[in-house]
This record gives sequence, C-alpha cells and structure tokens, in this order.
Amino acid sequence: MRELSLNILDIAQNSIAAGASLINIEVAEDTAKKELLISVSDNGCGMTQEQVSNVLDPFFTTRTTRKVGMGIPLFKLAAEQTGGNLRIESEKGKGTTTAALFRTDSIDFTPLGDVTSTIVILISMNTDRDFIYKRSRDGESFALSTAEMREILGGVPLNEPEVVEWMKDYINEQTNILLGGVTQ
Ligand SMILES: Nc1ncnc2c1ncn2[C@@H]1O[C@H](COP(=O)(O)OP(=O)(O)OP(=O)(O)O)[C@@H](O)[C@H]1O
Ligand SMILES: [Mg+2]
Repeated sequence: MRELSLNILDIAQNSIAAGASLINIEVAEDTAKKELLISVSDNGCGMTQEQVSNVLDPFFTTRTTRKVGMGIPLFKLAAEQTGGNLRIESEKGKGTTTAALFRTDSIDFTPLGDVTSTIVILISMNTDRDFIYKRSRDGESFALSTAEMREILGGVPLNEPEVVEWMKDYINEQTNILLGGVTQ
C-alpha cells in the first residue's frame, strides 16, 4: 500500500511545476475527531474553476509526455477510501490549495510514512523555492520555514549536507515530541 508521504511529494511537485515560490505543507491531526488533514498551498499559476473540475477527472493533464495525470486522483481516492474527501481551492494567477481529509480510524487509512524525508528531499532538491512545513496535533504544533532558515544560515545553501542532516534531526525530534513518543 502507498504511504501518504508519497502523495505529499506528488502534490508538492504540482506546486513546483506551477511555478510557486512558496509552498506551504501542513499535516494536522485531531485525535478526538480521528481526522488527519493534509494540505498543500502554493502561490503558483493557479487554475480556473473548469481546470479544477477537470483535474479531479483522471484523464485530464497538461503534461505532454504522458496523457494521464494521476497525482490528484490517487490522493483523492486514498482520502475517500477512508470516508474523507479531497478539496481544491484555486485562483488563476494567485495559487492553489489542495487539501485531503482522512479518517484515521478507517481500516483503509494509509500510514503517513516518512514525511520527514519527503520534506527534506523537497527542500534540498528545490533550493530556489521556499517551503513552510507545519505539523500539528490537537492544537500543539511545530513548523519549519526555509525563509527563516535562510536568514540564520546567511549564504549557506539549504542542500549543504550538514544543513540537510540538521533539518532531518529537527523535524524528527519535533515530531517525536508532538506525538509523545507515539509513532505512526
Ligand atoms: N498546485 C497546482 N497549481 C496549478 N495547477 C495544478 C496544481 N496541481 C495540479 N495542477 C494541474 O492539474 C493537473 C493534474 O495534476 P495531477 O497531479 O493529477 O497530474 P500531473 O501532475 O499532470 O501528472 P502526475 O502527477 O501523474 O505526474 C496538472 O497537470 C496541472 O495542470
Ligand atoms: Mg502531479
């Protein structure tokens, strides 16, 4: 079974393809409601309402190398299989938010997988973009912002091995604190 971190990678890659300079990735869990929300927001080229309805149909894509775009339909399917849903809010020229809601108590809930590596890969492979990663659970949260990191690092690139290691350790450590030692 696919891990949701791979869907996050897919959806963030759409934002990169859309020319976004800032990509906001949020993973929010509500343990009382047994819900997990994954949202990716960007300031890329955006879509018209017609394009939005078309992307939810697996046979629509602006790719020319391959006919069928599957990133969004697969993410939507993963959410719907748990009793959740996927929503896209987009405005041409402004940006896009793709948000999927999962019911974590569903037998079809796919594990999140290695979100830390996904985020670190996205950041280190796209040093010309800014990312904000926010993870929350029942009102507690932590965030990592590449814009803030850039200020602290001065001219040190975000794909410098020591920086990559630090990001990995930071996200893992903060995630462990947030989840109270519970891994998922
Ligand atoms: N964040 C976004 N901003 C602007 N357009 C988007 C965004 N996300 C998706 N789209 C549009 O929706 C289309 C479908 O996206 P989807 O991820 O389903 O498939 P794809 O990216 O074309 O192909 P695949 O993900 O299978 O490699 C994209 O080709 C693009 O035109
Ligand atoms: Mg895609």
